[in-house]
Amino acid sequence: MMKPLNTPITSWTGKRVWLVGASSGIGAALAQALLQAGAIVALSARRADQLAIVAAPYSNASVVPFDVTDTEAWPAALTNVLERLGQIDLVILGAARYDPTHSWQIDIEQAEKSFDLNVVSVYRGLSVIVPQLLAQGHGGVSLIASISGYTGLPRALIYGATKAALQNLCETLYFELAPKGLAVYLINPGFVQTPMTSANDFEMPGLMTPEAAACAIMLGFERGHFEIRFPKAFSLALRVISMLPDRLRFALLHKTTGM
Ligand SMILES: NC(=O)c1ccc[n+]([C@@H]2O[C@H](COP(=O)([O-])OP(=O)(O)OC[C@H]3O[C@@H](n4cnc5c(N)ncnc54)[C@H](OP(=O)(O)O)[C@@H]3O)[C@@H](O)[C@H]2O)c1
Repeated sequence: MMKPLNTPITSWTGKRVWLVGASSGIGAALAQALLQAGAIVALSARRADQLAIVAAPYSNASVVPFDVTDTEAWPAALTNVLERLGQIDLVILGAARYDPTHSWQIDIEQAEKSFDLNVVSVYRGLSVIVPQLLAQGHGGVSLIASISGYTGLPRALIYGATKAALQNLCETLYFELAPKGLAVYLINPGFVQTPMTSANDFEMPGLMTPEAAACAIMLGFERGHFEIRFPKAFSLALRVISMLPDRLRFALLHKTTGM
């Protein structure tokens, strides 16, 4: 059997995890799964009250609220997390926004805000996290992208492009950081029922609960995967479609999305 790209996480007991985007949806469910499995988790997002609700049942949880778009807030947040965790074994960056947009509806402010939050904030985070992990000599970083980053899709004019950027960024991170002993994970969810997708007025194939998404992410870490994608069948189908010749790919996507 081939060796996994990252060292499998075989036990969560005492693992120190910083989860950014933990106040709702996939992040909140993942925080609960990690805490139940025995990890020590620092939960971040802007809404301190929501983070407190997620953390409340657990003595191994702490909250570090901040706005990821505030460059100056990152070093203070890292210091705060280190005071609580000591060191960091795993960082999960999942804060994002989704503005469904067609090509004929471009709103520059929305585009700027989406790229600033979904992409630039990841660079903001990495600029403080990577030096910390390298200084520790161990640890991992994971980015939550999306299967919508695989290929252009209707309504994903801005969001899909931000997630494609993260997929490319994550590959570079793996190339550069794995040889230095760090783990790098690319998480590509399909549709998950969260506040982010609640306004979608179209059928979402393979729609999952946040809890099922959290399970799939935990399994991916435990298996040492680089790319953690789910649900299995739908995400694989879109991956395969994305690799087809252009003519075939566009025809198939027109047919399957009805657009
Ligand atoms: N749901 C899906 O179908 C789906 C599919 C593929 C990928 N994803 C990705 O999965 C991740 C989680 O999405 P979700 O569906 O769980 O959405 P969600 O429930 O809307 O969660 C988004 C999280 O990001 C945080 N956030 C937003 N702006 C922030 C800011 N400026 N600073 C700090 N935190 C901020 C939110 O907390 P506050 O509002 O408290 O700040 C919240 O915790 C995202 O990266 C998303 O793109 C979701």
